[in-house]
Amino acid sequence: MRAVTVNVHRRVRDPSASEIMKTIIEPFRIKVVEPIKLTTRDEREQLIEAAGYNPFLLRADDVIIDLLTDSGTSAMSSEAWAAMMRGDESYAGARSWYRFRDAVNDIFGFEQVIPTHQGRAAEHILFGIMVQPDSIIPNNTHFDTTRANIEFSGGNAIDLPCSEAEDLDSEYPFKGNMDTAALEKLVAEKGPVRIPIIMVTITNNSGGGQPVSMANIREISRIARGANIPFYIDACRFAENSQFIKRREPGYENTATIDIAREMFSYADGCTMSAKKDAFANIGGFLCTNDAALAQRERNLLILTEGFPTYGGLAGRDLEAIAVGLHEVLDEHYLDYRLLSIRYVVEHLRELGIPVVAPSGGHAVYLDARRFLPHIEPLQYPGQSLAVELYVEAGVRTVEIGTVMFGADSRTGEECAARFDLVRLAIPRRVYTQSHMDYVLEAINLVWERRSDIRGMRIVRAPQFLRHFTAEFDWI
Ligand code: F0G
Repeated sequence: MRAVTVNVHRRVRDPSASEIMKTIIEPFRIKVVEPIKLTTRDEREQLIEAAGYNPFLLRADDVIIDLLTDSGTSAMSSEAWAAMMRGDESYAGARSWYRFRDAVNDIFGFEQVIPTHQGRAAEHILFGIMVQPDSIIPNNTHFDTTRANIEFSGGNAIDLPCSEAEDLDSEYPFKGNMDTAALEKLVAEKGPVRIPIIMVTITNNSGGGQPVSMANIREISRIARGANIPFYIDACRFAENSQFIKRREPGYENTATIDIAREMFSYADGCTMSAKKDAFANIGGFLCTNDAALAQRERNLLILTEGFPTYGGLAGRDLEAIAVGLHEVLDEHYLDYRLLSIRYVVEHLRELGIPVVAPSGGHAVYLDARRFLPHIEPLQYPGQSLAVELYVEAGVRTVEIGTVMFGADSRTGEECAARFDLVRLAIPRRVYTQSHMDYVLEAINLVWERRSDIRGMRIVRAPQFLRHFTAEFDWI
């Protein structure tokens, strides 16, 4: 891999050990490789048309660089693979369950741990019990599965992002924060009967992968506890959020990242977690609480839909991989590399004048499709057009996070522009090297240079819930 340098002192200061050298290196060696099939532009034009212009409907083999998601796509370590061989597949009380439970306890600190096959299963169980028709669940920004599970249970999912997040260019270091004044007002107006849970998502995926500060988490906790409302953390990217606190929040410079994680969860009453993100696992998740009676009801549902309480929806080997991954992800050298490698892409895009969400976030780069393609109206899905063009240009698969994902009310079917039209380039953990990222930068720049020729799109067909996964499109 050729050495490419980036001046790590520019813009947001995230000082790290790697500042001694300017070249970012991947802090791991590659032992197993998977070939990438290269396609031509003509082939890709046909393939994306056959997929209804929805990158989710492509065959993965037809993708050159797959930035659709950082979920379940990580490279596991030799330690995790070795642990998988030790997986105990006993139906009840397996050794692997105890390893998993102890790893979760050590970091998250909740009394009750419920394994699930992925994050949304944890959400489904939690909201199935806690949400009543007309319940209100505030969050900094709900991820799409969280919102859909709340709406499916009859509740209202409310986003309360901080005002700094409105300006995609602002360098505010914690743009994932919740607007706690708005939360306090909502809680005073509606009270604990209407608001069964307060949530915060770390990092704020739908809001640009931006972190939430410890001060913000503490304040949400204060408001929730004052009103006797359980406070839950959507913990998918807890390690990345912890490292941002270490690098950006005064007072945490010298705190071990694992202790930052422990402090964050100490302010909460429970969490939902997708182990497919910050646990390097290909599958898995869990639900935690300190409320034993609630956990009993959750386990009853778990047995109905996921499995016995000591494995949830997981094999013993998956439990082992997660137990290893949860500690491995808190390696501070890995986390510094992770944050710097995302920043490398963001900084280069800004140098090219390409509109991108600033400052750089934890797991993904977010292009601002509304400013990239200002001639395309939000209801003609500029993010979808851009995602399609990135695939056609270079076989890079990305996802629209905008009006396709959030613009339709699942109950009324009415459409309106989402807050933003972004295209997310989610970077799988430990999978792609810097030269892959240089290829992606070149692809984005080629699309940027021909942006005025790009057209908007219309939806040909779409389901009622989570339409972005399966909707089909055509050019306008
Ligand atoms: N919460 C957040 C913040 C997420 O990003 C996701 C998944 C989930 C919950 C649900 O977890 O997939 O294990 O059921 N995000 C993936 C993504 C799909 O691409 O961002 P899951």
